[in-house]
Order: sequence, then C-alpha cells, then structure tokens
Amino acid sequence: MPRPKKREEAQEEPEVEVVERPAAGQAELDVEELEGIGKVTGQKLKERGYYTVRDLAFASVKEIADIIGNEERAVQIIEAARSMLGLSGFISALDVYRRRVNIKRISTGVRSLDELLNGGVETGAVTEVAGEFGAGKTQFCHQLAVMVQLPEDRGGLSAKAIYIDTENTFRPERITQMARARSLDPDQALKNIYYARAYSSDHQMILVEQARRIIKQDNVKLLMVDSIVAHFRAEFPGRENLAERQQKLNKHIADLLKVADAYDVAVVVTNQVMAQPDVFFGNPLRPAGGNVLAHGATYRLWLRKSKENIRIAKIFDSPYHPEREATFKITEDGLTD
Ligand code: GTP
Ligand code: MG
Repeated sequence: MPRPKKREEAQEEPEVEVVERPAAGQAELDVEELEGIGKVTGQKLKERGYYTVRDLAFASVKEIADIIGNEERAVQIIEAARSMLGLSGFISALDVYRRRVNIKRISTGVRSLDELLNGGVETGAVTEVAGEFGAGKTQFCHQLAVMVQLPEDRGGLSAKAIYIDTENTFRPERITQMARARSLDPDQALKNIYYARAYSSDHQMILVEQARRIIKQDNVKLLMVDSIVAHFRAEFPGRENLAERQQKLNKHIADLLKVADAYDVAVVVTNQVMAQPDVFFGNPLRPAGGNVLAHGATYRLWLRKSKENIRIAKIFDSPYHPEREATFKITEDGLTD
C-alpha cells in the first residue's frame, strides 16, 4: 500500500502571509486614496462619517453596503482597507506583543483601584463598572473624566473625555471639585469634557457615532456611557422584548468596542445590578444587560457599598485577574484611598 504523501502535500500549501503592522500614518489616509474608490463613492462615505482608511477597515459590510448600495463592492473596499493596514490576515506574535506594550492606562486616582486594574483603565478596551444604586459608578466616571486630563507622569494621558449621560446625573460642580483637588484649572477641566445627554436608546447609539467623529478630530482618550442599559431596559420591558433589546444592545456594544479598538480609546460603561429572581444559590445580584455585556466588556469592575462613604471594588468574570478586592472612599475631593 502506498504511503500517503502527507508531508509533500503540506509543503505545497500556500504560505500564510504574516505581515507587520504598517506605520499608523496610513490609517489616517483619506478614503479616496484607496484603490477602487472614486470621488463619488468617496464623498458618499465621508458624508456618513467614514473619512479614513482606518474607518473603513473597522466597518462592517452592512454599514458600507447601505451607503454605496452594493454588497460585493463593500466587501472589496473593506478588504482593501484592511490589507493596507495589515489587518486582513495573521500578524506575528511580535506585533501582538508590541500592541500590548503600547496599551496606555488612565489612573483612577486611587492606588488600590489602579492595582486591581493593573495600572488603571485600559485604552483599546471596554471596561464595565457595575454596582447597585449609590455604589459610586457615576462618581467613578466623573473622576476618570478629570484623571485622563493629567499628564502621563501623573497617571493621565493629557487628553480629553466624552461623557454620554443617559440618566441626567452628570454634575459639572463635581468635576470642578475633583479638578481643584488635582491642581487642575476647573474651567479648563470642564472645557476638556464633551458632554451629551442621551434621551433614548436610539439617541444613545447616534451619539456614539458622533463621538467617533469627535475622537477623530480631537485628542480624546476616554469615552464613557453612564449608564449603558438604562434606556434599553425602560424601552424594552419584559421577557417578550428581551430578544430585540439584546440585539440592539449587542450592536451598541459592538460599536463601542470598535471605537475602542480603532482609536485606542478607553471606553467605560456603567451598569446597574439587579436581583435575579431565579438565582437560589450564591449572589442573587447580577449586572443588567445579560450575556451581551458579559462578552462585550473586556474588564468588569463591581462596586458595592460598605459603611458610610466606603466602597469596595472587585474584578469579576476575568480569567486574568485574581479575585482581589480594593477599598476606597468617596469624599469631597473625589475617589480616594
Ligand atoms: P446609580 O446611578 O443610582 O445606580 O448610582 P451610582 O453607582 O452612579 O452612584 P453615584 O456615583 O452617584 O454615587 C453616589 C454616592 O456618592 C452618594 O451616595 C454619596 O455618598 C457620594 N457622593 C456624591 N457626591 C459627593 C460629594 O460631593 N461628596 C461626598 N463626600 N460624597 C459624594
Ligand atoms: Mg449613577
């Protein structure tokens, strides 16, 4: 019986292309620089917020097909953009490593919390902050909006923040207090925060799109949504609406992940926890949003109330973090050790 020629056959397989990531500059090229995109298509894309090769590389086929009215061409365009940026196939582990090394972190301003988060809130990732009413989720967001403005040697990224507020709980006075406590000019600190109130889940999703445009034009390194699920829960109540709600929420989170990934921005979302009626053992509290958020968020931080102004934080659902806890206080100056 002839032996199968496994080895030789394997050698005939085409080589897997391993590409180095090109310089960041190419990502910022105008969409019209991409082969196959003419003036008309270019204009159409730009009108809908796709200005650069980077925007196209991270877009979905459906998004682009909706704009240019041709699915096949949409696939080609996205492929061309991805291949220009070296995103289309495998990359070397060295590149993965370089990317990881380049990740920046925004300090929370609380040493114990930073330790819990391996240095702070990560850019390029979505961090979920869950907790019951009054746990400090909104205070945490206020503090980050100030911290991101600090220079790197003080834990910030010398950058601006975007705050999408769904519950009308943003307080500029709180920002001024926290800014003063960190020796920042309060007026300047306020100016460095783009603020929008979201009036519905649809509006909230549109605001993410607008945030993307701002991020492209300005030095923004932090995008927050406080709270991510409140509108979705109010608009799609009950089990009968669950599927639709989760589908929409899924899209919203995918949009946020894309912003984080494409622009190296830290995305932070808050989430209420609610009692699960069907849990009989263990902790009956679970964050709202179900599995959509569980898989969407890169890091999940759980805050809970302790005595008076003391709060306890914990990372949950993470394979990389030990089940450690950190304690902090909420004071006039903000979150402190
Ligand atoms: P929900 O949005 O209702 O789910 O709660 P949350 O987790 O967003 O709570 P939030 O961040 O609003 O925390 C509220 C708590 O922060 C209050 O109970 C206060 O204890 C504390 N807090 C807020 N502002 C101040 C302040 O100016 N000084 C002090 N010392 N504490 C404050
Ligand atoms: Mg809140």
